[in-house]
Amino acid sequence: MYICVCKGIKESDVRTLGREGITCPKLLASTLGIDDKNSCCGRCIKNVSNYAAIAIDEHSRMKLSVKA
Ligand code: FES
Repeated sequence: MYICVCKGIKESDVRTLGREGITCPKLLASTLGIDDKNSCCGRCIKNVSNYAAIAIDEHSRMKLSVKA
């Protein structure tokens, strides 16, 4: 599922970053290149907290699978 149509960013991209430990909204935004008005149309940056939740969920899943 696309979460940013302008840049073609998918939920799976956010999950990949989550597995790499990138879960902070500010760091996610800068890594995805949606962290300022020049690089984002404004639609997806307002949902960055949702992206962080996805990344945190993926990071937690990875940590659980490592322990198992
Ligand atoms: S929807 Fe992400 S930059 Fe436009």
